[in-house]
Amino acid sequence: MWMGLNMEKHPRKLPSVSLIILAGAIVILVDQGVLMALHVNKWVNVWGLVRTSAIVAFFGFLSRKVYVQAIQRSEQLRITGTLAASIAHEIRNPLTSLRGFIQLNKTDPKAAYTDIMLTEIDRINDIVNELLILAKPQKGEYVIRELRPLLQSVFTLINPQAILHDVHLMDGYPGELESLTIVCVESKLKQVFINVIKNSVEAMSDGGEITITVTADEEWVSIVIADNGPGFPLEQLDRIGQPFNSTKEKGTGLGLMICQTIVEDHGGTIHFQNQPVGGAVVTVKLPIHR
Ligand SMILES: Nc1ncnc2c1ncn2[C@@H]1O[C@H](COP(=O)(O)OP(=O)(O)OP(=O)(O)O)[C@@H](O)[C@H]1O
Ligand SMILES: [Mg+2]
Repeated sequence: MWMGLNMEKHPRKLPSVSLIILAGAIVILVDQGVLMALHVNKWVNVWGLVRTSAIVAFFGFLSRKVYVQAIQRSEQLRITGTLAASIAHEIRNPLTSLRGFIQLNKTDPKAAYTDIMLTEIDRINDIVNELLILAKPQKGEYVIRELRPLLQSVFTLINPQAILHDVHLMDGYPGELESLTIVCVESKLKQVFINVIKNSVEAMSDGGEITITVTADEEWVSIVIADNGPGFPLEQLDRIGQPFNSTKEKGTGLGLMICQTIVEDHGGTIHFQNQPVGGAVVTVKLPIHR
């Protein structure tokens, strides 16, 4: 039931905005035409107006849905692009050490650097795989997923950018919630956590700490992302989640709005606040799948 409801919120294929507007215009014209034919002198009667308004509202709603989906997709591509830059940078380090060890093995074939080399290769593989999964066009399908590996993938992707800025990710995932599952569109939910953690990294470009704590009750799991940066600007706090609300020179101000839409589509909530000691806290609450 829960899944079904939310699947409806994610129609796989929606027509383009221009098609919707065209369809809307045709429906209104036909509607008014019929009305005119039936009541020649009652062109502007109340019933006609109500119907026209309802049609306009319906097609407006549909266009908005298409628009939101389009910006979600473009935001996802933008994120993948910015992550790719830091990931490329980060991949250079293991590649350099791999090259060094292979060189050493060449001169001393007995030297056993194989384990270190394999670990470095696995790390590169993990990062590249995660990036490819994130960049893949979204199927928009709700699936049952364990939260633990999902967050782990997020760390793998965002860590290169964090390392670049001397930011440490502290993983507070409790062992007893290891097998906790949720129903989600995996790449979209990853996008939420990447957006939020990326904001924290950007707010602490000279270093800091981000703690990710996970707690759960019978029905809900809470993922709390707290940093020790400057916190949300006070004048912004009320407007967080509204589009184009950015204090960054190159920010679009769409990141948190998209997070909010995705979390709500998953039947959850997202809250933004500042800690009394300073630093921003974002709390994502999602329904647990039982
Ligand atoms: N962890 C944080 N610490 C301090 N301020 C933050 C934090 N996260 C978000 N903000 C503030 O909220 C604003 C909106 O964030 P949002 O992610 O929606 O857009 P953005 O980061 O500015 O742009 P984009 O995400 O498109 O690159 C930011 O410009 C910033 O002022
Ligand atoms: Mg952002």
